[in-house]
Amino acid sequence: MITEQDPTKLMKQQVAKAAADRVTSGTIVGLGSGSTAAYMIQFLGERLQSGQLQDIKGIPTSFQSTVLARKYGIPLTTLDEVDQIDVAIDGADEVDPQKNLIKGGGAAHTREKIVDCLAEQFIVVVDSSKLVDKLGSTFLLPVEVIPTAVSPVMRAIAKLGGQPELRMAVKKAGPVVTDQGNLVIDVKFDYIDNPGEMEKSLNNIPGVLENGLFVGVADIILVGEIQDGQPIIKEIS
Ligand code: A5P
Repeated sequence: MITEQDPTKLMKQQVAKAAADRVTSGTIVGLGSGSTAAYMIQFLGERLQSGQLQDIKGIPTSFQSTVLARKYGIPLTTLDEVDQIDVAIDGADEVDPQKNLIKGGGAAHTREKIVDCLAEQFIVVVDSSKLVDKLGSTFLLPVEVIPTAVSPVMRAIAKLGGQPELRMAVKKAGPVVTDQGNLVIDVKFDYIDNPGEMEKSLNNIPGVLENGLFVGVADIILVGEIQDGQPIIKEIS
């Protein structure tokens, strides 16, 4: 049930619910990470508990989504057990008009990219503040890096025109450590002109595991907006 009054949270909840409502019984569902995906996992769990939805299995994209799926009673499986994912639902930090994304605000983009790319249908759930004309204009681009390679990777990123910064943890001394035990470099660009080329160039740097550019992966973007004081959902497909 949605009782939220904060407009951003309300938009996230509405859009998460709209996406969870699209999941059908008997399917394998990629479970995204972040605050919007967290609501979606909760709503999926509620649909299962009410009997409205049956026999789904989730593939989590992070430790966070694993914990939430268990909390809300969603049975889990792994990529070793299944050979296809029917639908993946995940948030994003930026979305451009071509449905390309920046993800990784929660440092989960490596597993998210594996799961989201494997899904037959990838639904992105965002509030309207995430829509941008050009990727990189409001959000730093996350790059997951093997710890011993941080310095050379930072130098290589600077040569590509970005300003790299090691992501530091909150309430823990030192850097953010990913679910895979790696570190995250956040990269500032004025904007990213060619996301497809940048995605490849960054992943070509030795020591880079994965970056947060998702190019040509999203099928549907569900956008939560407030219009005349009322939450509405827009679909970009
Ligand atoms: C996690 O690493 C991210 O890719 C999230 O999906 C993204 O940061 C969106 O998160 P919110 O829904 O919390 O904005």
